Amino acid sequence: ATPSVCETPRMAREITKIGVIGLGTMGAGIVEVCARSGFEVVGIEMNAEAVERGRGHLENSTGRAVSRGKMTEEDQKTLLGRVTTTDDMSALADCGLVIEAVPERLDIKRDVFGKLDDIVAEDAILATNTSSLSVTDIATATRYPSRVVGFHFFNPAPVQKLVEIIATVITAPDVLDDVRAIAARLGKEPVIVGDQAGFIANRLLLAYLNRAVVMYENKYASREDIDAAMVLGCGLPMGPLALLDLIGLDVAYAVLDTIYKEGRDKLHAPAPMLKHMISAGLLGRKTGRGFYTYE
Ligand code: CAA
Repeated sequence: ATPSVCETPRMAREITKIGVIGLGTMGAGIVEVCARSGFEVVGIEMNAEAVERGRGHLENSTGRAVSRGKMTEEDQKTLLGRVTTTDDMSALADCGLVIEAVPERLDIKRDVFGKLDDIVAEDAILATNTSSLSVTDIATATRYPSRVVGFHFFNPAPVQKLVEIIATVITAPDVLDDVRAIAARLGKEPVIVGDQAGFIANRLLLAYLNRAVVMYENKYASREDIDAAMVLGCGLPMGPLALLDLIGLDVAYAVLDTIYKEGRDKLHAPAPMLKHMISAGLLGRKTGRGFYTYE
């Protein structure tokens, strides 16, 4: 349950403004979560076109809530008014927390964190939404790695209650406390986990999703039957192949590959079909086709 105001943990830092870098599926969702909870938000993308696309995600998602009668047009306007979107990273200067949600590549993430170092205040918290990369390897791109933490949301971010907070061996305790407090203010339930590839949820989930792809690849059952078995037999909200389409096959592959390289457990060796589908541009919902086809 969402804690009441008096239960909300106190923060050492008074954070009112949150920056989000990368406005893809996850980044835009995180912006929405933060703005819904009353924070001022600065959303960053790399160029004007990507900024526009990111803003579009946000408008569509909140627009859907309005058309379903879950939000008034007035509230949508207020929410959108809290969000500034730009391709200028210097707009992050007065953010007390910055959440990075750029593509799952260590070189790109380290580059972003290196740049952030010169923009934000020394005590600002720098968080990464990485699904599987080492938070420690990202943190060492900065001058103050003790203020870097993993803050991992689940897709769709406005819906899923969980956030994984990843503490490295060098993350400062007050940083962890403040991120926990922010999670509560965002209406999320945090779990704390060490810096091991895949953290808790993806380490367990992706092994299962990978087995589903192998089953489909080997023509053991149809995609509909594999998905129906898990929805109707196990009470899951969606089947594994539909879920892979939601997560994005490229993201799923990147997570599996990182976990596999760390532990060499063949459960995580990415199914060859995943690679073929990615090469063919079948990334799931975001490209209109994955295991299924979308409008
Ligand atoms: N943004 C905002 N809200 C959304 C949304 C989105 N993208 N998608 C759905 N919703 C909201 C709907 O508005 C609706 O809200 P109300 O109940 O207030 O009306 C609610 O979610 C339910 O949506 P629907 O009725 O359209 O559909 P549903 O009941 O079938 O639920 C689902 C859709 C939420 C996606 C559900 O099927 C689900 O939870 N699936 C499992 C998703 C999952 O496992 N995610 C984790 C993936 S792993 C990951 O993300 C980590 C990683 O690093 C790879």
